Amino acid sequence: MENIVEGPVVSELPDQAAAPAKLLPVAELHLHIEGTLEPELIFALAERNGIDLPYPGLDELRRRYQFTDLQSFLDLYYANMAVLQTEQDFADMTRAYLERAALAGVRHAEIMMDPQAHVSRGIPLETCVNGVASVLATSVEDYGISTILIAAFLRDLPEDSALEVLEALLAMGAPIGAVGLDSAEVGNPPAKFERVFARAREAGLRLTAHAGEEGPPSYIIEALDVLGVERIDHGIRCMEDPGLVERLVDARTPLTVCPLSNVRLRTVDTLADHPLPAMLAAGLNVSVNSDDPAYFGGYVDDNFAQLQAVFELSDFDRARLAANSVHSSFASEERKAQLLDELNGL
Ligand code: HPA
Ligand code: ZN
Repeated sequence: MENIVEGPVVSELPDQAAAPAKLLPVAELHLHIEGTLEPELIFALAERNGIDLPYPGLDELRRRYQFTDLQSFLDLYYANMAVLQTEQDFADMTRAYLERAALAGVRHAEIMMDPQAHVSRGIPLETCVNGVASVLATSVEDYGISTILIAAFLRDLPEDSALEVLEALLAMGAPIGAVGLDSAEVGNPPAKFERVFARAREAGLRLTAHAGEEGPPSYIIEALDVLGVERIDHGIRCMEDPGLVERLVDARTPLTVCPLSNVRLRTVDTLADHPLPAMLAAGLNVSVNSDDPAYFGGYVDDNFAQLQAVFELSDFDRARLAANSVHSSFASEERKAQLLDELNGL
């Protein structure tokens, strides 16, 4: 795979229809660590912590993974967090993700966590941050994956709650590299968080936000213009606004797309209806990510494999998606160059 050039490209003809996809080194930029809690780990942590779950067994839990929209998923996602009690729980969850991600070809991961979802149930901020961060500190040595921790704020809570948690994170010297914005999108536009993102920028943090998942294209514009984010998480609804697409193409704004998530949350009917090929063809800077892999049917490799099966992406398209993920990351220039060299050497 040679001559990976700047700019997304889509090839004209699928050339490897039936061939199994090769695993590419990628950066995963859109991943909620709490969304990596697999059912087996949920039950193991519940037992360790003496927590009664509202479902008697794995099968009953798995039956709840039929989502109708974002909120129906969020209800289960937040409920299952009850099993996360100690630093060790957060560390075990993080280790399990990195172990699986390494098998998926992930070489750099930017990992969101939702501190407010833990603080609001009485878990100290230090417990969740230190539990995750203790594992990320040695992720290169242990898993070959460089990592950046992103504190994501819950947009369905008041801005003051986010500001309070951001100040506490800064005061404790939490090893975060960026802030994000997630949870229930519609009715909670980005502008609600203008002060939080201004404070994060002033503190030297990088900025990203979910926008245009269920929310309208105007939320993407607002995230860029009011919050000043460098990256948009999801962003698929930009396709409804040609002027916005042109702007995103011109600025090479990264969009961290999560195809299996969009299918499971019914944002698109089936994977065959997903706009990813159209986004590539439009010249958008898209990458492929798993979002909440334990809930949405797969990790990054599964996302690539299912895209390959449905759209017969060429090797060049897949390399382009992988290169986009590296270019779009908040990694150091040195780390990006290493990963691009790896990709170009394939
Ligand atoms: N969208 C919004 N909030 C989230 C998601 C998502 O896909 N996953 C976890 N929190
Ligand atoms: Zn997400």
